[in-house]
Formats: sequence, structure tokens, C-alpha cells
Amino acid sequence: MAGIEYVKEIEKARRDLKALISSKHCAPIMLRLAYMGSHMALSSVKEVKAKHPKISYADLYQLAGVVAFEVTGGPCIDFVPGRKDSMISPKEGRLPDANKGASHLRDVFYRMGLSDRDIVALSGGHTLGRAHPERSGFEGPWTKDPLKFDNSYFVELLRGDSEGLLKLRTDKVLVEDPEFRKYVVLYAKDEEAFFKDYATSHKKLSELGFTSPSFLRSALKKMMISVAVAATVVILSYLYQITRRESH
Ligand code: HEM
Repeated sequence: MAGIEYVKEIEKARRDLKALISSKHCAPIMLRLAYMGSHMALSSVKEVKAKHPKISYADLYQLAGVVAFEVTGGPCIDFVPGRKDSMISPKEGRLPDANKGASHLRDVFYRMGLSDRDIVALSGGHTLGRAHPERSGFEGPWTKDPLKFDNSYFVELLRGDSEGLLKLRTDKVLVEDPEFRKYVVLYAKDEEAFFKDYATSHKKLSELGFTSPSFLRSALKKMMISVAVAATVVILSYLYQITRRESH
């Protein structure tokens, strides 16, 4: 599909995902799906794929992650399309082990070119959703409102154990390790700093090993320019009408 059509199709899929995620309250699982980069065909994503068959699953998973954040009140994350589907499944053991400590987390995330700051910001993904005993053996949400994206994950981490809330070993090390802890303290008191860092780290994670094809980048640029031109025309005609009304 030519660049501009693909970008337009992505915008349509974005609206469908927004409606689907809001009505099914499935933002957490969509986010986890995007983070795990799984090619397991989730039935909800399949529905959207059926309406937009030209969009790759890889783009749809990442788009679903971005939309999950917007729907739950999180930061706007810049989305760049153009991922190709791969028939090769990611290697087992690529995902972090929830029972391990700081050096394991660094092993996994440094390998992907991510930093301590990224590790702490991304762990804030656990603001949303819960663990299910039948899936992971763990149970419960990390925060009191697991469908709202805010900085409560970090506030709860500093508070220590609280009844009904989950803390994995990999969550606890963020408070114990002095390098990680300074970001936990920052995000617990400054939600804006968390949102800004989260958006940057999420984008990095979602674009690992991927460079958007240049024809798609130029299509995106063209579309942004036409949106800016249309907005300017609307503003100018509005100003013109006000000036005319005032002069009468
Ligand atoms: C730092 C290492 C991480 C570990 C060890 C870890 C581990 C886990 C585990 C064990 C679960 C419970 C799964 C279940 O029982 O359904 C979970 C859920 C979840 N994780 Fe992580 N995770 C990590 C990082 C991340 C990151 C980076 C994100 C996103 C940016 C994320 C987003 C989520 C979400 C949204 C859920 C809830 C899913 C649901 O409600 O169905 N996690 N994670």
C-alpha cells in the first residue's frame, strides 16, 4: 500500500482500537501485548486486523499499546508505522523473570540498549492491570485503580507492602537499588516527569530493531503539514469573522 494510504489506514485503525479498548476495558492486556511483542493472535486485535488487513500485526500491536495509554489517561506517545511481520517467534527467556533482582533486570534491558531511567519508567506500565494466578502464578493489581494511568505505582512502591496490592521481586528492587530508587522518588512526586520519561522510553522500546521506511516517514510528514495548514485556515477564518463582527 502506498505510504499516504497506509498512514490513513493507521488513523482509521487507531479510532477502531480506541472504541474497542474503551468498551472492553482491555487497556492493560493491550499494553502487555505491545511490550511482550508477542505474535500470539489476540482475538480483539484480530477483529481490528480483519477490518484493516493491510496493516501488519506488528504495527497493530504497537498501535494498541499507544492507544491503551491514551484511553487510560496516559501521555500521548508518538507512533511511527512501518513494521513488518516476522514468522520467527522471539526467543524464550527474552522476558524478565519476576523473581529476580536488579542485575537480572539490567542484563535484560541493557541488552536492548535501555538505561536505568528507562527500566524504572517502563516498570510504571504496572500502574495498569493485574496479575492472574492462572497465567503467571502471581495475583492482584499494583495500584488501587488499575484502569487509570497515573504515578500511583511509584507512590505505592515507596509506601511498602499494602494489603491487596502486588509487588513482584522486580518491582521491589526499584526501591532497594540506589540508582533505580532516585527515579522512583522523582516519579512519585512529579507525575509530569514520569509521563514525559514514560513516553520517551515506550517509544524506544516499541522501535527496537526497526527503522520506518522513508516513504512512510515522508507520508507522515505530508499528512502533518496538511493538518497544520487546515488548522491555520480554520483559525484565520475564525479571526476574520470576529474582526468583521467587531467592526460592524
Ligand atoms: C521489569 C520487568 C517486568 C516483569 C518481571 C513483568 C512481569 C509481569 C507479570 C508476572 C505480570 C502478570 C501477568 C499475569 O498474570 O497476567 C505482568 C503483567 C503486566 N505487565 Fe509486566 N513485567 C515487567 C515489565 C513490564 C513493562 C515494561 C510493561 C509495559 C510497559 C509491563 C506491563 C504489564 C501490564 C500492563 C500487565 C497487566 C496485564 C493484565 O492486566 O492482563 N510490564 N508483568
